[in-house]
Amino acid sequence: MSAWKLAHILTFILSVSAGSLLHSRSAAPEGFIDEGVAPSNDNITLRFALAGRNASGLRDTLITISTPGSPSFRKWLSKDEVKSFVEPSSQTLAAFDTFAAAHGLAATPESRSVHGDWVSLSMPVSQANALFAAQFKRFSHRDLTQPITRTLSMSLPAQLVGHVEAIHPSTFFYTPRSVPAEQKNAGGAQFYKRNTTSTPQSCNTIDPAGAMNPACLQALYGIPLTPIVSHHHNRILLPALQGRVPSPGSLESFLTQFRPDIAPNTTFNLIKLDNPSFNATGQDGIVAEADLDVEYTIGLATGVPVDLLSIGGNDTDIADPFLDMISFIEGLDDPPSVVSMSSGLDEADVGFILAQKICDGYARLGARGISVLFAAGDGGVRGPHDNITQCGDNTFIPVFPASCPWVTSVGGTQGVGPEIAANLTGGGFSNFFLQPKYQQSAVKHFLSTGIPKDFPGRFNVSGRGYPDVATQAWNLQIFSQGHAVRDAGTSFAAPIFAAIIALINDRLLYAGEPRLGFLNPWLYEHRNAFTDIKAGRNTGLVCPATSIAFEAIQGWDALTGMGTPKFSKLLHAAFAQSSFVRVC
Ligand SMILES: *[C@@H]1O[C@H](CO)[C@@H](O)[C@H](O)[C@H]1NC(C)=O
Ligand SMILES: *[C@@H]1O[C@H](CO)[C@@H](O)[C@H](O)[C@H]1NC(C)=O
Ligand SMILES: *[C@@H]1O[C@H](CO)[C@@H](O)[C@H](O)[C@H]1NC(C)=O
Ligand SMILES: *[C@@H]1O[C@H](CO)[C@@H](O)[C@H](O)[C@H]1NC(C)=O
Ligand SMILES: *[C@@H]1O[C@H](CO)[C@@H](O)[C@H](O)[C@H]1NC(C)=O
Ligand SMILES: *[C@@H]1O[C@H](CO)[C@@H](O)[C@H](O)[C@H]1NC(C)=O
Ligand SMILES: *[C@@H]1O[C@H](CO)[C@@H](O)[C@H](O)[C@H]1NC(C)=O
Ligand SMILES: *[C@@H]1O[C@H](CO)[C@@H](O)[C@H](O)[C@H]1NC(C)=O
Ligand SMILES: *[C@@H]1O[C@H](CO)[C@@H](O)[C@H](O)[C@H]1NC(C)=O
Repeated sequence: MSAWKLAHILTFILSVSAGSLLHSRSAAPEGFIDEGVAPSNDNITLRFALAGRNASGLRDTLITISTPGSPSFRKWLSKDEVKSFVEPSSQTLAAFDTFAAAHGLAATPESRSVHGDWVSLSMPVSQANALFAAQFKRFSHRDLTQPITRTLSMSLPAQLVGHVEAIHPSTFFYTPRSVPAEQKNAGGAQFYKRNTTSTPQSCNTIDPAGAMNPACLQALYGIPLTPIVSHHHNRILLPALQGRVPSPGSLESFLTQFRPDIAPNTTFNLIKLDNPSFNATGQDGIVAEADLDVEYTIGLATGVPVDLLSIGGNDTDIADPFLDMISFIEGLDDPPSVVSMSSGLDEADVGFILAQKICDGYARLGARGISVLFAAGDGGVRGPHDNITQCGDNTFIPVFPASCPWVTSVGGTQGVGPEIAANLTGGGFSNFFLQPKYQQSAVKHFLSTGIPKDFPGRFNVSGRGYPDVATQAWNLQIFSQGHAVRDAGTSFAAPIFAAIIALINDRLLYAGEPRLGFLNPWLYEHRNAFTDIKAGRNTGLVCPATSIAFEAIQGWDALTGMGTPKFSKLLHAAFAQSSFVRVC
């Protein structure tokens, strides 16, 4: 059994059976170097997850309001309704505040999340070690500019048991490398061969060289070019980690070339959440990610306002921006309708408890009527890694948050005649989250027919299967840092699907209907709204001679989910479940 797997099982079992031991792992992940104990007077800020009044009630309510046929279908919750489920009880707040005060610590109003379920406290390392039976150490990594402070175990004092459910940072290690290879350098790579009979004419006309672009996607998926008609309650929000922002001028060049029919100065609204004075610069990949996000949303969702939420800075821990993003969106009275993000990491590195907390956050956004989309990753079944040299036991690595059942996970395809699964696409099964009901029958078919005989044991057949849907992810045109480049990755797939959802929301809102919100239970009832992708394999683990992975088959598969969208069918499906049917 590999170390990562062992670590997660230990965390899970011990936290349940030993009661007060909250987080633990046997060792730091591969690549981290123990630099010794953290100086005892260094200050550390710990974030505490307080137990909510009724977290399971929120999840149950979300399923009810997102499942077609339910009387409360798409009756999304208000900010206060969500709060009533997730805010801590007065006993929990009292227990926590009493504990903090007894140790000379106090939370400020700014250190509490919008619904009060996360609280931060700063204290010297010596005090953190004493209060939580921890041993904070510093760990360096060749991909981090500074060491990080972590502990291999952390326990709860008796007064907090039942009130505090997670503490961060503790045993969660993060490296920039574990953010998926958000871009693959497809520039100069072979172009896929077009089948000139079946390729939409506009693809060949616009780019004879064979790269994907908005016009080709519009033709392929039937995405309309017409601008939106309703202008309220429909906005795409793009969180961008590590303080990244799009490179100046790139969006304008992109629109000038690929959307000559819309104003080239159409732009996004930049929101800097923390680090207002820091813009990520330098690394091409980091900036290109923000560029492609705005280019493929603004370039496809004609007229839909787009917010770029730039979070964090160099080496910022990934859990902090994930939690900050959820709290920021929850605080909005008029939140975005679609959130699209293309980051993720090994599920096991996040750990069960923290992953569950973050995933619950997405359930809350879904309940507000927000469609939360995540890219499925670019490492085939190697988690987010596009290149790992360590084989382990060939166990497939799921990517979080793509594996969270409360997000819509978007895989990748390549080629247009026919469209097949992209070999880079992430996909697989969660070790943390049970297979939700909404996908059970779809996934069952794949498990019974699509799996080679030597696969058992490599992945978890009872876990949430991902992705749910897919779009093009290979050899797409972008502008970045002033240049036209071709690029690849499921980082393209998530914003492309986000644009389609926003355009459907526009038609719904114009007709006085609620927006789509949490998509999955509805999506899985409309498999005919997708082109089933039936060919292509993704890549396996980079191990001697064992590069096995999944294969796309008829029906749902762990590479492309239900397939790629057919706009008019999806639009029809959106209205099919509403109070009236409009033919479009
Ligand atoms: C830790 O924080 C305290 C209170 O804000 C401050 O007085 C102290 O100088 C800080 N210690 C270090 C090492 O920065
Ligand atoms: C939790 O929420 C569910 C769903 O609304 C509700 O049925 C249940 O009574 C709630 N439980 C508590 C303890 O409030
Ligand atoms: C090209 O597309 C046409 C129409 O869809 C199809 O009949 C033909 O088999 C395809 N050719 C190849 C080589 O895939
Ligand atoms: C975009 O350009 C048009 C005319 O070219 C101008 O009227 C408009 O104000 C510009 N919009 C922005 C946001 O700069
Ligand atoms: C960061 O980038 C944005 C958008 O390009 C720009 O408006 C802002 O001035 C930049 N801030 C800094 C500190 O460079
Ligand atoms: C962030 O990292 C980049 C690239 O390594 C470096 O050039 C820049 O100085 C760093 N900025 C800060 C504020 O640490
Ligand atoms: C994969 O990683 C190894 C070790 O870091 C490196 O030597 C190799 O060049 C990488 N391969 C590719 C294709 O990036
Ligand atoms: C993945 O597909 C691309 C495009 O067809 C091809 O260039 C590349 O070699 C493939 N990679 C692997 C590992 O099969
Ligand atoms: C498989 O997934 C289930 C449900 O998510 C989980 O309870 C179980 O621990 C997982 N098994 C392994 C070996 O990770």
